[in-house]
Amino acid sequence: MKTVLITGASRGIGKATAENFLAQGWLVKGTSTDGAGWKHESVEWFVLDLADQKSIERSTHELATKGPFDALVNNAGIYDESNDREDEPVSIPSLRRTLEINLIGTIDFTERMLVALHDGAHIVSLGSGWGSLTEDRSSDAPAYSISKAGLSMYTRRLAARLASRNITVSILSPGWTQTDMGGPEATRLVTEPAAEIYTLATNNVPSGRFWERGEERTW
Ligand SMILES: NC(=O)c1ccc[n+]([C@@H]2O[C@H](COP(=O)([O-])OP(=O)(O)OC[C@H]3O[C@@H](n4cnc5c(N)ncnc54)[C@H](OP(=O)(O)O)[C@@H]3O)[C@@H](O)[C@H]2O)c1
Repeated sequence: MKTVLITGASRGIGKATAENFLAQGWLVKGTSTDGAGWKHESVEWFVLDLADQKSIERSTHELATKGPFDALVNNAGIYDESNDREDEPVSIPSLRRTLEINLIGTIDFTERMLVALHDGAHIVSLGSGWGSLTEDRSSDAPAYSISKAGLSMYTRRLAARLASRNITVSILSPGWTQTDMGGPEATRLVTEPAAEIYTLATNNVPSGRFWERGEERTW
């Protein structure tokens, strides 16, 4: 039986993604900030706070005994609405917290889990079109955009490093999705990106690419 590790599987896109893997007979190891999650016989829960180095150390230590994993979905992330206007100065506390969770914590967690991945595994991280450098989106949310641009660069670097292990590293933009983060006005249902994440993670694709709606997209 195959096993996927999904961060932030307690709700939103992470939960819907877990449900897709479960429907295909996978085992799921899921994280949430308090280790609580919804009940399913094939899901096991772990505490992970990506803002807390000790929590990352503890969870990766524990999770390493549960592998090897066939896929890792780096889904957990935050969007700080208190600093989402581009005409306002960047809030440094907001930038620090957003980078700590979306970028530094996610990288730390990933690096520590590499030993527990099968050769040939697939890592999918949740990025954002707001992290694109080449599209004129002139978006708001500076801290969030900077964090996702950094995650895109990490994806490319890691893909090169892991080529010898045949591990595919991808980043995927889910689009504006109806979750606690995206809000009820969002244009996509949570099932749409969840299906795209499952398809990407379980197919052979070139490593180090940025995906949206099943297509490769510009950085
Ligand atoms: N929704 C959108 O429109 C949209 C668009 C582009 C990209 N994305 C990306 O897609 C991913 C999932 O977003 P979502 O909309 O599903 O978000 P969400 O509904 O707000 O869920 C966020 C998930 O991340 C976990 N999380 C929050 N803070 C954490 C921390 N400090 N350490 C570890 N886990 C933490 C939460 O766990 P708890 O339940 O324990 O709090 C929860 O499971 C994120 O990376 C987001 O940036 C979303």
